[in-house]
Amino acid sequence: MNTNTTRIKIADKKDIPVGKALVVKAPDGRNIALFNVEGNIYALNNSCPHMGGPLGEGDIEDCLVTCPWHGWQFDIKSGECQNMPGDDATSIPIIVQGDDIFLESNG
Ligand code: FES
Repeated sequence: MNTNTTRIKIADKKDIPVGKALVVKAPDGRNIALFNVEGNIYALNNSCPHMGGPLGEGDIEDCLVTCPWHGWQFDIKSGECQNMPGDDATSIPIIVQGDDIFLESNG
């Protein structure tokens, strides 16, 4: 077990309605898009791998988010790009405990 792992609270689950997203800034400067899919929270880097569009502002349908800039679609759970294989959004590990959403950070 890695004892250097720390948890940093980044959001409250109650602030993200089902089917919506919330963009938060992590202490390391990353913008993280948090999505509520049927009551489960998933996190992607807010920057689209195409040209950096804000994924957290995209339309959400079931488990897919559509980038608002050029329409690429990503699986919210895995980050997998549906249009360009391999150009996946970065999935970010989080921990949800009760209403608290934590970013897991090493060191
Ligand atoms: S920046 Fe996201 S599809 Fe172009």
